[in-house]
Amino acid sequence: MNDAKRQRERWKDLAMTLVLAFLLMAVFYLVPPNTFNPYSAVFLLLLLVPTLMALIHGAPFVPTPMEAVEKMLKTADIKPGQKVIDIGCGDGRMVYLASKKYKANATGYELSPIVYGLARIRKLFWGSKAKIVFGNFKTQNLKDVDVVVCYLLPETLARIQEKLDKELKKGARVVSYAFPIGSWQAHQRVERDPAKNIAPIWVYQK
Ligand SMILES: C[S@@+](CC[C@H](N)C(=O)[O-])C[C@H]1O[C@@H](n2cnc3c(N)ncnc32)[C@H](O)[C@@H]1O
Repeated sequence: MNDAKRQRERWKDLAMTLVLAFLLMAVFYLVPPNTFNPYSAVFLLLLLVPTLMALIHGAPFVPTPMEAVEKMLKTADIKPGQKVIDIGCGDGRMVYLASKKYKANATGYELSPIVYGLARIRKLFWGSKAKIVFGNFKTQNLKDVDVVVCYLLPETLARIQEKLDKELKKGARVVSYAFPIGSWQAHQRVERDPAKNIAPIWVYQK
């Protein structure tokens, strides 16, 4: 990517984030407490529909504790410039840290518009170069990806096993928080740490 294109991307990111922040503020401002009006109905739909969609398609939004994120990325052995994706990135914490600490070319996919908005706002605070893409990760081709990080429900992981098998290149790694992936044999397992409230981490290598 050349400098001019990078600059354009930065402006686009900033504009998008400001629009989202403004929309969120407007919605909160327009919804008076304990009333039902068209705005509150829209607000409720905005919250419920994506939450249901995310549940059906993968998992609800539950952020991974930051210490676990650090552990996952360390175990993933990320090299600068490697393509790292979070398939359901929530507020973006995994991709922001992967980009900042490991200089990864990181992208997060997020299906819920509200959570996506949150990730975009947090991107400003992190000053991150990571990309946040609104949409279903299942529509993405994963052939160029070096590392996939995820925190999804076990049923979802079992359902996407075939996609990961088919599309990921040899040597690609998958790091899953809290749940293992279908019938895959783990390359490494980091045990849970109850004192820090950290669930187990599974690492796979293709
Ligand atoms: C358990 S949260 C994990 C968030 C983040 N990865 C973390 O570890 O903090 C799962 C996220 O995946 C999103 N999600 C679920 N299914 C998805 C899909 N098919 N495509 C993109 N995002 C999805 C949900 O909206 C939710 O924010």
